[in-house]
Amino acid sequence: MDILSLARKHLKNLKPYSSARHEYSGKAAVYLDANESPFPSGYNRYPDPFQSELKKCIGQIRNVDPENIFIGNGSDEPIDLLIRIFCEPGRDNILIPDPSYGMYQVSAAVNNIEARKIRLDHNFQPVHSEFLKSADQHSKILFLCSPNNPTGNAFDRERVTMLIENFKGLVVIDEAYIDFCPDKSFVGDLLKYENLLILQTLSKAFGLAGLRLGLCMAAKPVVTLLNQVKPPYNISSAAQEIALTQLKECSTKKNTAVIVEQRLRVAEFLKENGLKAYPSDANFLLVQFPNPSLAYRQLLEDGIVVRDRSAEAGCEGCLRITIGTPAENDLLMNSIEKIFNL
Ligand SMILES: Cc1ncc(COP(=O)(O)O)c(C=O)c1O
Repeated sequence: MDILSLARKHLKNLKPYSSARHEYSGKAAVYLDANESPFPSGYNRYPDPFQSELKKCIGQIRNVDPENIFIGNGSDEPIDLLIRIFCEPGRDNILIPDPSYGMYQVSAAVNNIEARKIRLDHNFQPVHSEFLKSADQHSKILFLCSPNNPTGNAFDRERVTMLIENFKGLVVIDEAYIDFCPDKSFVGDLLKYENLLILQTLSKAFGLAGLRLGLCMAAKPVVTLLNQVKPPYNISSAAQEIALTQLKECSTKKNTAVIVEQRLRVAEFLKENGLKAYPSDANFLLVQFPNPSLAYRQLLEDGIVVRDRSAEAGCEGCLRITIGTPAENDLLMNSIEKIFNL
């Protein structure tokens, strides 16, 4: 498959903006090329537009060539960029699982692109025939989210592979929560399939949501296109520096293990008390309550805020509860015990 032939035609002739730090990335004694302030503030210089140090570090962690990595302002940025690059407004469409993360649909709507929602089955797994049946020659991107938000489960490898191999456009797997089930990642398949793209983020297991750093790992021509379309300095110097320091600290593995252990603990508590928590591979649980809006309000009275997902397809009665620290989970379980007079 020629990936570039899927991109919007006018982008073939795009002359990307060439920033000062792109044109000259070496060291100099005096920088008079970027209309920056010469007075040091710690941040008076523009950042590296292609984040090479950070990409090198992430590449090592993920075992991916830095040239196959794009870094965005959160993974929400590549979601929007991919739709803008590959979908012709008013003509093309994307396929998305239902229920799933809301931004695929919002980014599509902003760009005047139809989002075709395909219902997941009763185990919240994708049915490949349903996706392929809904595709036509204008279906450019199929988004999958594994582990899926808000359901929590990772998608079945065989079903996803079937989709990668049979869908005639890009398959984007959003692995925002993959560190909570690393065996289920598709990163190892990146080089095998040119139409496979993987989104990841430093917002979840890495604990850096406030920095806004998301990744799109893809074939080099796709990464080149993303770089051409993004704003020149989309990642601040502060975000690049802090991320580099934090990634070297390595507290992620330990913290992730705590969350996974706590997820089991909370799930067990819910089960023992007759509440249904769906199987989760992520850092949250989708939990069914007899009266979700009442449970939501009562938890809030105890100062605990969760997410009401009861209006999502197949999630009737459900609240989505993020796993916190052991002490926060104690508070959550005490509050639930109180609600149900357990
Ligand atoms: C599935 C999924 N993808 C992407 C994101 C956005 O991540 P980021 O903070 O990198 O923009 C989220 C955030 O909740 C998410 O749940």
